Amino acid sequence: MNMRASPIFMALIATFLSCMVLFSGKPAEGIIGINWGRQSSQRMIPSMVVDLLLQNEIQEARIFTAADNVMAAFSGSGIGLSISLSNFVLHVINSSTVAEEWIQNSVTKFRSQNVDIRYVNVGVEPFSTTFTNKTYDNAVDVLKLIQNALNNAGYGDIVKATIPHYSDVLKQGIMKPSEADFRDDIKAKMVEYLKFLRENNAPAMIDIYPIHYCRENDLDPDFAFFDKKSKFFVLDDNGLNYTNAFDFLYDSFYWAMRKAGTPDLRLVVGQVGWPTDGYPNANTTYAERFYKDLLPYVIGNKGTPLHPGMPIDVYIHSLSDENRLGIWYGGFQRHWGIYTSDGQPKFKIDLSGKGRDIFPTTAKGITHMPKRWCIFNEDMSDMDIIKDEFDKACYNSDCSSLEPGGSCSHLSFKQNVSYAFNRYFQVKQQRIHEKACNFQGLGKVVPDDPSTGTCIFPIEILAAESADRGAPFLGINGDQFIRVSLLAMLLPLLSFFLISNSINVELFTK
Ligand SMILES: *[C@@H]1O[C@H](CO)[C@@H](O)[C@H](O)[C@H]1NC(C)=O
Ligand SMILES: *[C@@H]1O[C@H](CO)[C@@H](O)[C@H](O)[C@H]1NC(C)=O
Ligand SMILES: *[C@@H]1O[C@H](CO)[C@@H](O)[C@H](O)[C@H]1NC(C)=O
Ligand SMILES: *[C@@H]1O[C@H](CO)[C@@H](O)[C@H](O)[C@H]1NC(C)=O
Ligand SMILES: *[C@@H]1O[C@H](CO)[C@@H](O)[C@H](O)[C@H]1NC(C)=O
Repeated sequence: MNMRASPIFMALIATFLSCMVLFSGKPAEGIIGINWGRQSSQRMIPSMVVDLLLQNEIQEARIFTAADNVMAAFSGSGIGLSISLSNFVLHVINSSTVAEEWIQNSVTKFRSQNVDIRYVNVGVEPFSTTFTNKTYDNAVDVLKLIQNALNNAGYGDIVKATIPHYSDVLKQGIMKPSEADFRDDIKAKMVEYLKFLRENNAPAMIDIYPIHYCRENDLDPDFAFFDKKSKFFVLDDNGLNYTNAFDFLYDSFYWAMRKAGTPDLRLVVGQVGWPTDGYPNANTTYAERFYKDLLPYVIGNKGTPLHPGMPIDVYIHSLSDENRLGIWYGGFQRHWGIYTSDGQPKFKIDLSGKGRDIFPTTAKGITHMPKRWCIFNEDMSDMDIIKDEFDKACYNSDCSSLEPGGSCSHLSFKQNVSYAFNRYFQVKQQRIHEKACNFQGLGKVVPDDPSTGTCIFPIEILAAESADRGAPFLGINGDQFIRVSLLAMLLPLLSFFLISNSINVELFTK
């Protein structure tokens, strides 16, 4: 069990699978991939992560930042890779020359180093209005430039560009999948997108978050699961029944595609998962329950009510927690990981889809900082200073677990302050001499773990910056020209963020 699969064997499998794709236009069976974002104060070294993926029999991965050292780790691994262009760089790709240059530096360069890049994701939910009010209307133009550049470089058959969309590209408030259609404001763009995909034999992509869908639409939370415990279900949508949000949304997207004149496209699920903190029903029990049925369902090629037996590819969201993601929409955004950010599995999940009752393998070679914590000394004489220091500590670290529904939402005020101080202390790599546990004299370092009940006071991993050089700016790699001109363009915005918010600039990628 959990033997490390040999890279050669994996490469053979990958070759076999890509041949199947070429010959049939569809994969032989549903594939379980995983998203790996790195917007975290503590990061696993890329080679550790690739090792983790191989041990867990993961065949495909999607990354958001394509640093050279990250790409190098995937070289020869046999893992199919999806790379991403973040929303914030879409406007830079404004001509075929720039697109070709980007493909040269992001695809050709790494494919020649034996990195099996298969998809380019153009933007991240660029038409979504749920998590932000800003949409990126040129995404389809960029998609065309990118796929055309891929075709010109001779990759037309093996590397496909697509755009991952959130389910809010569909009109809200439908009661049956057959009622689904695209939102009026983006309908023309969606039709253009789908027709272009069809011409290039590329798949459409949808991100599905059942936990939100049920909450946003006031549905029975059990409808988010596959175990048919929901009091809400849909009967007789043209003879079909729906007992879970995944099937419901997937088939809704197909209905909208059908109405757009492209009923026969392949539809890949770019993100699907369950957060474990910072939101009602977001915990490890429910995450385990969700994946327990989802993954065997994918591997079993059961298909959906509308397409029984059709293979569905899904990318699990995500590999590990990212405590530097923006939390405009809620603290749970930092808790999508199957693993904590230090590589510990949070719950049982069989990533191969075989449904075994197992924990996934733990990351190897992780070194934690010493067992010491920074807590509040409980001097309550000046509440203003306490609140101020609490806010600053949270702002510069991660207090999302304190939010209602979170694993630490039951703490007392004093424990709250200790929690915040400790998070800051750990993010600052326990640097006592640099006042990482000062807080105007309110902090003290202790050797005993202050964790209580469900609330863990974490210790971060030893920074591995020398081994992991970090991702270059904004998820585009290699291309000095783009990086420099982008930097110039974004400098005013960037300095605003750096001043108002010391969160890592990588938050721009989502
Ligand atoms: C593309 O953007 C660059 C930088 O903003 C600009 O100088 C150039 O004129 C644009 N090209 C086109 C074809 O719009
Ligand atoms: C988006 O705009 C609407 C209406 O202007 C507003 O109600 C909503 O809060 C905004 N959402 C975000 C995430 O900013
Ligand atoms: C849908 O549910 C109804 C009522 O339970 C049942 O009679 C029917 O056979 C179901 N249809 C399918 C396709 O499963
Ligand atoms: C997870 O949430 C569910 C529903 O809110 C609850 O019944 C269950 O006890 C929770 N599990 C844990 C470990 O907190
Ligand atoms: C602890 O902090 C959280 C997040 O700021 C807040 O919602 C909660 O009310 C605080 N609890 C107490 C007892 O002050």
